[in-house]
Amino acid sequence: MKGKFITFEGCEGVGKSTQVRFLKEYMTNMDQKCIFLREPGGTDISEDIRKIILDTKNVGMTNECETLLYCAARAQLIKQVILPSLEQGISVICDRFIDSTFAYQGVARGLGAEYVEQLNDLACNGVKPDITIFLDLSPDEAFARKGGADKNDRLEQENLEFHKKVYEGYKLAAKRNPKRIVCIDASGDKFATQAKIKTVLREGGYIK
Ligand code: TMP
Repeated sequence: MKGKFITFEGCEGVGKSTQVRFLKEYMTNMDQKCIFLREPGGTDISEDIRKIILDTKNVGMTNECETLLYCAARAQLIKQVILPSLEQGISVICDRFIDSTFAYQGVARGLGAEYVEQLNDLACNGVKPDITIFLDLSPDEAFARKGGADKNDRLEQENLEFHKKVYEGYKLAAKRNPKRIVCIDASGDKFATQAKIKTVLREGGYIK
């Protein structure tokens, strides 16, 4: 039986990593066959690409180069880990995926939907998430939560204006993929958000 492919998306500071960790604890306790990954990353090659992308010394990186690197890291992850796992009936939970490229590079960097969707399709080789949890929180609130821009990472150090565009990008992605992307209000307490996520995933049959 095929495993389920679940992705998490959201702007910086929305508590995405915490929610992914909560789900990991739950899945482990329930003894459900699954692996947890992050993008860009999840394989040695993809982690190396991640370092290049996020390195603050690479200020001269073009938007096109950045997009292609995210897609290269993704192509490696899909063939090496995601596809074989799904085929073996192991569910895959990934922190960020194609909608990050849509929101960050397509919308915030301004490369356009068509450009990133074509590259995403090439990288993904027909693999699409069964469900995507979008943690919905305004960038103002998210920025306040994490205490402003992070100077250690080339993308995170972008200003609030950039992150507002990322948020708009996510909203647009959700509008274009209403069946796959589920928007979860992440403005409340982290345990309340966790409960909402679990309900959506259980009711949809994505987890036990
Ligand atoms: P992380 O901080 O969630 O690990 O993600 C790394 C950064 O990369 C984050 O700022 C979002 C960004 N990103 C993109 O711009 N495009 C993408 O396709 C992906 C996967 C991440």
